[in-house]
Amino acid sequence: MITAKLPHIFYGGDYNPEQWPEDVWRDDMRLMREAGVNLVSVGIFSWAKLEPRPGQYVFDWLDRVLDLLAENDVFAALATATASPPAWLAKLHPESLPQDAEGRRYSPGGRQHYCPNSAAYKERAAELTGRLAQRYKAHPALALWHINNEYGCHVSECLCDVCAARFRQWLSARYKTLEQLNERWGTAFWSQRYDAWDEILPPRKAPTFCNPAQQLDYKRFMNESLLALCRAEAEILRKHTPKVPVTTNFMGFFKPLDYFQWAQALDVVAWDSYPDPDGVPEERIHAACAHDLMRSLKGGQPFVLMEQAPSQVNWRAVNAPKRPGVMRLWSYQAVARGADGVMFFQWRASKAGAEKFHSGMVPHAGKQTRVFSEIASLGQELKKLDAVLGCRVEAKVALVCDWQSRWALEQDSKPARLDTVRHLRYCYDLFYEQNIPVDFVQPEGDWAQYKLVIAPVLYMLTARAAENIRAYVNAGGCFVLGYFSGIVDENDQVYIGGYPALLKDVMGLSVEEWRPHPEKCVAQLPGRPEEIPCSTWVDVVNVKSAQVSAVFASDYFAGKPALTINEYGKGKALYAATLLEPSWMAWLMSGFIEQLGIRPALPAARGIEAVVRSKPGRQFLFLLNHNQKPETVDLGPWSGKELLSGKTVQGRIMLEPNGVAIVERKK
Ligand code: GAL
Repeated sequence: MITAKLPHIFYGGDYNPEQWPEDVWRDDMRLMREAGVNLVSVGIFSWAKLEPRPGQYVFDWLDRVLDLLAENDVFAALATATASPPAWLAKLHPESLPQDAEGRRYSPGGRQHYCPNSAAYKERAAELTGRLAQRYKAHPALALWHINNEYGCHVSECLCDVCAARFRQWLSARYKTLEQLNERWGTAFWSQRYDAWDEILPPRKAPTFCNPAQQLDYKRFMNESLLALCRAEAEILRKHTPKVPVTTNFMGFFKPLDYFQWAQALDVVAWDSYPDPDGVPEERIHAACAHDLMRSLKGGQPFVLMEQAPSQVNWRAVNAPKRPGVMRLWSYQAVARGADGVMFFQWRASKAGAEKFHSGMVPHAGKQTRVFSEIASLGQELKKLDAVLGCRVEAKVALVCDWQSRWALEQDSKPARLDTVRHLRYCYDLFYEQNIPVDFVQPEGDWAQYKLVIAPVLYMLTARAAENIRAYVNAGGCFVLGYFSGIVDENDQVYIGGYPALLKDVMGLSVEEWRPHPEKCVAQLPGRPEEIPCSTWVDVVNVKSAQVSAVFASDYFAGKPALTINEYGKGKALYAATLLEPSWMAWLMSGFIEQLGIRPALPAARGIEAVVRSKPGRQFLFLLNHNQKPETVDLGPWSGKELLSGKTVQGRIMLEPNGVAIVERKK
């Protein structure tokens, strides 16, 4: 359970009472009760109202809001309000505004206009956080701390002089000497050698590619600078309220922040999910994938869906509403995949400001609306799910997701652009379609619980990661590695002597060259006539000990392996030298998955998502019908109470279009 104070699925949204006169607040409370709301995120953008002038704090309005919430049995995820500094900060401290790679300062007037290394911002944010914690530490409404908001969302890097100075300190702690830095950055290239620390700058606009190791270190540095802000606030909060969990809201696969690192600083992972209703099924699979990532960040611990749109957003070119039933269906998708909270942006649709056309749980048109009635019935319905709290999703398959490798891979000057998330999705989808749960792991993480671990592309391979992989396979694990992997070390320096460098013996092969984006490329299985379309990449592989499972049948690399398998220790290591057409890959993997004893929650049926959450002694099967027609699903071994209808089910179950069922297995 995330907090003993609130032993239910969290349900609510961002609550911005400062945008409304106080008489509206009473109406809010009435409607929150009607909608079964039990938690709201308060004060996320309230800094200017809490501290209208430097050092002058005004808390009485927030006192009243929190008191009202407590009276109405609604808890608060109280924000530290540091995501949008007041206008006076920029006026007093223009250097607190972030600067882009071309030396331009951002202006205030939007949000997130702060440099993460600005002393003024840090001091003022810490002061405000401390005062909020001090004032509300014993307030009965306080259940959770919401630190800042979506760190890095609009401004993920600042390249100002203050950051430059901090970057040099960061580098000197990392490399100790300039000689080391020159060596690791490979500055013998293009006369980039540094002779004094103050010659080093952030990777600002340069005539052509900046040094890749410099770029990579700057990404690390910025990630850590933002994380330091979050940690500083968390530390203040924990000092005052050691028992109140702290969180901030993540953004799925958001590239600039290494969320595996970030999750360590928080008590609970929370994230914001905004699939485009016009982009199904792609968008809903992506949401599932990101939910699974969020669940994985803290070793399977339940997370909170902190924001989703009640209906449409305001920031796409075309903002489609969620059709009837879709908000409910996608909310249950989050719960199925490990969420113990279903929250929205935002409670009441704004009257003014840039987000006035973003949907709210209470629409402009009021409570007699489709959106509010769907919101209210979901809130009441979720009360039936207390038993699901704390349940886990048990996966036997893991995908390797490494932000560091992704940063390095997706920089400029590569053989071709490769997108890490696209590669993760290629693999993820194979399992999603089969109702086989997947976790995400780091290359140096503990993989003992997984039967199958896949690294679709692991361009950067550290010595520790290579050791981890070797030990995993040696002990009987099954590991799949994709092309263009094991190419560089942590400084983006190439391993000499063939790829995948430190894993050549484990994979039983060596790669000598590649052909990105091959034209009309096909592979074949030995002794079979079918041509399997391949895309994106061809690694030209020389096998040593590996067995060849498929070969290329076109171009100058015809006859070279497309897919191999190597026995190593007690385990197996597979290598994919290309991207096989997905249905072929699924077919090739299916036998393998079965051999490994990896079973789906239920056999696949198009548009039906099936996921199991469990805890000792209790198991729940979530069934989601994404199709626009009723579907009958064979429950196989599952029989027991269906939580939403209260009926006992067995054999088959009928799901309405966008319908949901949650079956608890009879003991
Ligand atoms: C999120 C943000 C919210 C709101 C929402 C709109 O990124 O955290 O404050 O702007 O998007 O969709």
